[in-house]
Amino acid sequence: MAVQRTFSIIKPDATKRNLTGKVNAMIEDAGLRIVGQRRVQLSEDQAKKFYEVHAERPFYGDLVKFMTSGPVVVQVLEGENAIAKYREVMGATNPAEADAGTIRAAFAESIDANTVHGSDAPETAAEEIAQFFTDADIVG
Ligand code: CMP
Repeated sequence: MAVQRTFSIIKPDATKRNLTGKVNAMIEDAGLRIVGQRRVQLSEDQAKKFYEVHAERPFYGDLVKFMTSGPVVVQVLEGENAIAKYREVMGATNPAEADAGTIRAAFAESIDANTVHGSDAPETAAEEIAQFFTDADIVG
């Protein structure tokens, strides 16, 4: 499997509790490299656009509200099989179902306040990275 890039967000529940470093340690311990990173406050428009695919889901409004409730850290992660690897490191979307040793089992508070987001496929990874980073922002 070739080296891939994936997009990650450390969500407001984690930045609020000062957990950025602990989440990053779990990412790096798993062998992923943080090759782009920025702390930002998402606007409502940015959050709506980012989660557009969920626009018809009942949780969309609450999700947008939560993602704009405080700063987030947007990241580009690089490594062998990075997309699947990061999904493994994050654990299940619902923290009640997340395996022990995963980021969400360790830190997530609820299905919305679930500490991290990671891309689910190469096409979405490329789109999500492009929403927040230019090539010059990513240093491998
Ligand atoms: P994330 O990986 O950021 O992608 C969409 C987010 O919607 C998801 O993590 C959850 O935080 C949130 N969410 C809230 N309710 C649900 C649900 N029922 N199914 C999937 N995602 C949900």
